[in-house]
Amino acid sequence: MAVETFDVVDLIRTKRDKGTLTKPQIDWLIDAYTRGYVADEQMSAMAMAIFLNGMQREEIRDLTLAMIASGETLSFDGLGKPTTDKHSTGGVGDKITLPLAPLVASFGVAVPQLSGRGLGHTGGTLDKLESIKGWRASLSNDEFYAQLRSVGAVVCAAGSGLAPADGKLYGLRDITGTVEAIPLIASSIMSKKIAEGTASLVLDVKFGSGAFMQDPARSRELAETMVRLGNDAGVKTVALLTNMNVPLGLAIGNANEVRESVEVLAGGGPADVVELTVALAKEMLALAGQPDADVETALSDGRAMDTWRRMIAAQGGDPDAALPSPRESQVVTADRDGVLVAQHALPFGIAAWRLGAGRARKEDPVHHAAGIDLRVKPGDIVTKGQPLFTMHTDEPERFERALEALAGGYVIGEPGDPIDNGGPLIAGRVG
Ligand code: URA
Repeated sequence: MAVETFDVVDLIRTKRDKGTLTKPQIDWLIDAYTRGYVADEQMSAMAMAIFLNGMQREEIRDLTLAMIASGETLSFDGLGKPTTDKHSTGGVGDKITLPLAPLVASFGVAVPQLSGRGLGHTGGTLDKLESIKGWRASLSNDEFYAQLRSVGAVVCAAGSGLAPADGKLYGLRDITGTVEAIPLIASSIMSKKIAEGTASLVLDVKFGSGAFMQDPARSRELAETMVRLGNDAGVKTVALLTNMNVPLGLAIGNANEVRESVEVLAGGGPADVVELTVALAKEMLALAGQPDADVETALSDGRAMDTWRRMIAAQGGDPDAALPSPRESQVVTADRDGVLVAQHALPFGIAAWRLGAGRARKEDPVHHAAGIDLRVKPGDIVTKGQPLFTMHTDEPERFERALEALAGGYVIGEPGDPIDNGGPLIAGRVG
């Protein structure tokens, strides 16, 4: 049996006592954990020590590089076009990838977006796209490269070969209360994005009630850490800090979010979804060498829509097929006249999840037609009896638990009351 280079208990003690791990120690730890030599309970103790005591900048870089080295890396060198990608830290109603990827690709830039499925109250991009009849999330490597060449935009499932150490560690963090640690989040996200091989990356780092980092200052720290990791690894990276106190757009779910995305691609759609799509597209195209790209025109003249249709069809989807409809819908109305002064993202995210739009465990199915359509946004005048939102589900017994989640989730106030939306949608930029 090969002799192991380090003793894992020594490394846990070092981190427990606020010490610094060296690159050889981190390389060994991640390799030994991936091999199964370091046990889950030992890695849990290490994750908690990192959660409590943090990591130095060099340790976070070394952890990221070690997780990249645990698996394969992709390369787009032979593609003949620049590559750029976007990653969002996740939010309620966040369907931006759907209009964004084809919009950016319509400028001749490749967008290789390897995505995940949703867990908890934030939805997953693949779950949303699977509402489209025939659409397939899994592609072979050959199909992936061929689509990048022909269409430019690919949104598909990330295989287990990219940063497998992160897959194992993320699963462990999820069940040990150690997800919300900046060194662990930053290394987790960036190891996958750097291994994916994109030349440039725009991060949408969210803060607020529907984001997993509520505090804007902490989300800025997360953004700065990730931007540094990307640039140090040779991936041109910038981040936008965006507000997730209020759901994004009017649709929260799967099929209804596809519908809203298609509205944006047709030159319409809710103002906040359009604003964020345009801002992220401009950042991505600037990194890919097109700082003056006229993004708004590509939405209004149908170019982005053409790319969307080709992107969906290339993965077996029928862009013209009707989206699934829910078995039951229930409208919630205003109980008095006034102004909608609050619409908190987290309760709406949880309610949509309880209606069946999300999953509690990785293996659960999602109900594509389940979710919520908002009819008003904060600041809108409402009159008694006016619809505020419509809930959709395939299993009507779910309405009650969804309504419980929404208690206090929206507030009707008096004209002149302050609007509680947490400020502007795009609150800052790092890069
Ligand atoms: N998403 C990830 O991929 N990793 C994290 O740690 C958190 C969100």
